[in-house]
Amino acid sequence: MTEGYVWLITGANRGIGLETVTQLLRSPSITVLAACRNPAKATELQALIEEAGGRLHLVALDITDKESVTKAAKEVANLLRGKGVDYLVNNAAILPGGLGDTAFGMDIDDLATTFATNVAGTAYVTQAFVGLVERSTKKTVVNISSTVGSIGFDFDATGASYAVSKAALNMLTYKQAKEKPEVTTISLCPGWLQTGELQSEMGGPNATHPVSVGVEGVLKVILSLKPEDSGQFFNFKGERVPW
Ligand SMILES: NC(=O)c1ccc[n+]([C@@H]2O[C@H](COP(=O)([O-])OP(=O)(O)OC[C@H]3O[C@@H](n4cnc5c(N)ncnc54)[C@H](OP(=O)(O)O)[C@@H]3O)[C@@H](O)[C@H]2O)c1
Repeated sequence: MTEGYVWLITGANRGIGLETVTQLLRSPSITVLAACRNPAKATELQALIEEAGGRLHLVALDITDKESVTKAAKEVANLLRGKGVDYLVNNAAILPGGLGDTAFGMDIDDLATTFATNVAGTAYVTQAFVGLVERSTKKTVVNISSTVGSIGFDFDATGASYAVSKAALNMLTYKQAKEKPEVTTISLCPGWLQTGELQSEMGGPNATHPVSVGVEGVLKVILSLKPEDSGQFFNFKGERVPW
């Protein structure tokens, strides 16, 4: 294990997670734990292993499966041998209802599934890994959220199931920050980024920014965090987002 800070990214096999891993590996002292549901099928992550020179580790993690989360936390603890996780980036999320669903029209099963992943899954991952975060130097938890979940932004009626889940995630951030002030915990919107190939997917091809631009911003914001930023909601430009 190399010196330097340790990052753990969930949902690291594609989209924003994969780009985050890719950009982090450009810093020679950083160790990246790339968590994804099926490392054996994560071909893009696997392609990064050789050039990472021992600084990239793939971890099997399904955030909705408690057993998988607990097992991953044990695996990471064994791997780190006493070191902690400096930055836990809760990136994994789903958008099964698309961004067109509404409060009265949405499939309630979509709402429940979205909530189980984006809120309960993220909450459990953080419970399982917070001991490792507390053992680290940077002690930082980043919940990747969305301005779609901001009431203050006053969006329209659409994107209901996803927006409800991200608003709840933001409250989770707030509660986590209040309970553990020694850990810097934030919500962070990466911007509308071109992930996925279909318009119905998370970012979609018509998104405003390439994924690389959003992730550059995300990393800049995370690296400039101060303890007093804990419990806040930022965007990838470092601006505060209204709840
Ligand atoms: N793209 C945007 O414009 C945008 C805007 C605002 C916020 N965000 C947020 O940014 C984050 C990443 O979005 P993205 O655009 O990169 O999405 P994406 O391309 O759809 O990727 C989502 C990632 O989450 C993983 N995932 C889903 N459910 C999981 C589970 N149960 N366990 C483990 N991993 C799981 C997926 O893994 P599989 O490959 O196994 O499905 C995939 O790696 C999300 O939190 C999203 O809400 C995105």
